Amino acid sequence: MGKTSKDKRDIYYRLAKEEGWRARSAYKLLQIDDQFKIIEGAKRVVDLCAAPGSWSQVLSRRLRPDQDPSVKIVAVDLQAMSPLPGVTQLQGDITSEVTANEIIAHFEGAHADVVVCDGAPDVTGIHDLDEYIQAQLLLAALNITTHVLKPNGAFVAKIFRGKDVSLLFMQLQLFFKHVSCAKPRASRNSSIEAFVVCQNYSPPDGYIPNMANPLLNPQSCPDFSQLGGINRAIVPFVVCGDLNCLDADKNYSLDELEDREYKQLEPTQAPIHPPYETALNMKKSGQACIPPLIDDVIIEEMVASDNEFEDGIPLDILTELSISQEIQPDLIPDLPDNEPLLPPDFLINKL
Ligand SMILES: C[S@@+](CC[C@H](N)C(=O)[O-])C[C@H]1O[C@@H](n2cnc3c(N)ncnc32)[C@H](O)[C@@H]1O
Repeated sequence: MGKTSKDKRDIYYRLAKEEGWRARSAYKLLQIDDQFKIIEGAKRVVDLCAAPGSWSQVLSRRLRPDQDPSVKIVAVDLQAMSPLPGVTQLQGDITSEVTANEIIAHFEGAHADVVVCDGAPDVTGIHDLDEYIQAQLLLAALNITTHVLKPNGAFVAKIFRGKDVSLLFMQLQLFFKHVSCAKPRASRNSSIEAFVVCQNYSPPDGYIPNMANPLLNPQSCPDFSQLGGINRAIVPFVVCGDLNCLDADKNYSLDELEDREYKQLEPTQAPIHPPYETALNMKKSGQACIPPLIDDVIIEEMVASDNEFEDGIPLDILTELSISQEIQPDLIPDLPDNEPLLPPDFLINKL
């Protein structure tokens, strides 16, 4: 914190300076811990997204690594942090596999009692994007946590209470028996920030921690097909209909179906707002609108190309029909006012 307070009215900012915390967010962890008692008795703790280090200070002041050498605190952040006695610092991106492996390696197979993460992306002001990135940061932190946390351990992480927050809660509930959403008094009411407090780590039976979870790094794009057991969700793929059913990938000639003679039929339901609606309405009001380019040659070319069809009419022809201002009245049949909006017969016949 600088020498001059940027906002002297913020009580937590003032208090943090008075009490020697590197950031006002120290009070958020203090208040969460006072409520949930997650730090007491812990020997190994990971502080993800730790800079400038006020949460590490809280951990250090409550666990006293200077007095108890069995206490290990590992702090990680993208940015460099001033040293803190009793805190091992790693610089790296928690969404990258390299950093995740560095943290895991640091524990040499031993497990952490608590993982905390106050990670926040640089907010863009685009709420959906900010919430998405925050959720990805939280999932990256959860991913690392599944590698290092001991059974029944605790995980605390910043979360944005956006519209899809329930999905995150459900994902966390797969791994923890108790999941709460905490809003410390030190966190402003105007902020959508809150903290998930997840207790009693108990992953699904047979769950093997892996790095194939959604990390932001596109290079570590997971191959989900390599996952097995509980880690892999397999949705049944069911083919319906037997071998006698007509084949949707095959073309049948018009007289191929033995028991049915081919008859051209009107559409069962006339479209309500077809693309050629404008053309028909213009015709009704005396402004016919068939473009000169709809001649046999052009239509043949269009049909030969990879057109998408609507009611048997290639969509690009229908679009041409609806936007053209050219007049060729003799091509369009007269339409009474109550005529349904069907494609003009001449077009069906040509096609
Ligand atoms: C609100 S600050 C954390 C404050 C800290 N808990 C404290 O009390 O001093 C959020 C931190 O998240 C870090 N961060 C954001 N994305 C990160 C990432 N992908 N990997 C590591 N750290 C990240 C930022 O560098 C920033 O220091």
